[in-house]
Amino acid sequence: MEQDTNRLKEAAGKAVVDAMVKSGMKLGLGTGSTAVHAVRRVGELLAQGALRDIRAFATSFQTEIECEKLEIPFYTLNSRELSGGLDLTIDGADEVDPSNFLIKGGGGALLIEKLAAYASSSFAVIVDESKLTEKLGMGFPVPVEVVPEARVQVTKALEKLGAAVSLREAVRKAGPVITEHGNLILDIRFGSSVDPSVMETELNQIPGVVENGFFTRNPPVVYIAFSNGTVETRGRQ
Ligand code: 5RP
Repeated sequence: MEQDTNRLKEAAGKAVVDAMVKSGMKLGLGTGSTAVHAVRRVGELLAQGALRDIRAFATSFQTEIECEKLEIPFYTLNSRELSGGLDLTIDGADEVDPSNFLIKGGGGALLIEKLAAYASSSFAVIVDESKLTEKLGMGFPVPVEVVPEARVQVTKALEKLGAAVSLREAVRKAGPVITEHGNLILDIRFGSSVDPSVMETELNQIPGVVENGFFTRNPPVVYIAFSNGTVETRGRQ
């Protein structure tokens, strides 16, 4: 089963790179078990000489390490090579709705993933069919990254908005997940339907919130891998 899902993720990763990545691009590379397949395909094409002069931006330590292994040159967003802008970012998602609005941050990298997505002229998301949903915010929890000092205060503010809140716990370490920026993650679920684009703004207005996992401002083209072996695209190319 897991192997089957991995095959779908790999198909989506290969399809998006082959269709959208061109030599000379400034390329944002996402995080997670789906995005890694796109990273590997970029590495493969660079090694073959079919792609040249890629300047990458890695959205997490996990992706940086993959770039190191594959010898994909990567830079900070502030570097002269990238100067705060990207041609294309490719990333995974936790859920995708019919407007191609997303929930991201299952891997805790939402802050830098959002910087990359919103700094990109084009944004592409790769998912297997299990990530498609009708309504965001009621199934997969929306991550909210908060400064540690604001944990209780933000929890109360989120509960006032009607959300059930839980502090994300680390695995194989006692206590909470600490993000790559020294913050905590509150995972929230709404009991009734919310407008993701309104909520994306509203959550960030709570003092102490650094970023949230609704992605609605730069709707991506979505590559969806289906279990019948096909990969379909949805949204603007
Ligand atoms: C990490 C993310 C990932 O893209 C998202 O969680 C999907 O991960 P996966 O492809 O492993 O299911 O947003 O912060």
